[in-house]
Amino acid sequence: MKVVSTQYSQILAARLAKETGYELVDVRFSRFPDGELYLKTGAGGDDMVVVGSITGSDALVELLLLIDACQGAEVTLVIPYMGYARQDKQFSPGEPLSARAIAQAISQGVTRALLVNVHDPGVLRFFRVPATQVSLAPEIGTFLEHTGLSDPLILAPDDGAVQFASAVAAENGWDTDQLEKTRVSAEEVRMEPKNLCADGRNVVIIDDIISTGGTLAMATRLLYEQGAADVSAACVHGVFAGGAYARLLASGVRSVFCSDTIERGCSVYSAARMVMNGLL
Ligand code: R5P
Repeated sequence: MKVVSTQYSQILAARLAKETGYELVDVRFSRFPDGELYLKTGAGGDDMVVVGSITGSDALVELLLLIDACQGAEVTLVIPYMGYARQDKQFSPGEPLSARAIAQAISQGVTRALLVNVHDPGVLRFFRVPATQVSLAPEIGTFLEHTGLSDPLILAPDDGAVQFASAVAAENGWDTDQLEKTRVSAEEVRMEPKNLCADGRNVVIIDDIISTGGTLAMATRLLYEQGAADVSAACVHGVFAGGAYARLLASGVRSVFCSDTIERGCSVYSAARMVMNGLL
């Protein structure tokens, strides 16, 4: 078995190769003069683990090309971050079900697919091959334990994140709660922990994705108003659209952490170990 990746998941692929003992394959990427993507792998014949986060259109095309270049081998597809997964319903007539379109396209030529904290597990059914996911809750729990945070309050920013935040908190037996939004007036929204008090607490907001960071930035301001000693944020997929990382720090978030499913300067925990477990 060998590991090969798109340009978008090189570091995670190298870590996965190290964890598994599989050989890491060299790939060269370039473009044709008209801008079309081109790649060439140095592999052939062996069963392959193809790793590629779908962070945008070029990443998707690169992944499709890489899967095709591996034909003739048995291909296990690892999608650390599946972009387009949040459009997982037709919210209004005429819209695409983007998650289905992407899942079907990348199922072609692979034997199975393994994802990391997909936005909604329902997306797995759109694949045309067996598809499963792994969660980085244990990695985030372990990482936070070593940051020296004293008895943090682990908060989910919304209903969708409750299960994940609870799994992170359970790693260390920490308190967990969810933020509840209440509209005080047309201009004022209040956001506070539903059951616990943030006063004097070290708060860590946990989400699967940080995209624009808008909700987190607002929550942070309000948590400080409620007396929180400190607010940090940890996620799996650090999208950080439109300057979100800076926006979060400017709103008073002390630290923002993410994994290497999208390779960032603040990728401080890796999906490699959990992906390896998922491959076994
Ligand atoms: C949405 O349901 C996700 O779990 C995240 O909460 C969301 O994608 C974060 O988006 P943003 O950073 O733009 O608030």
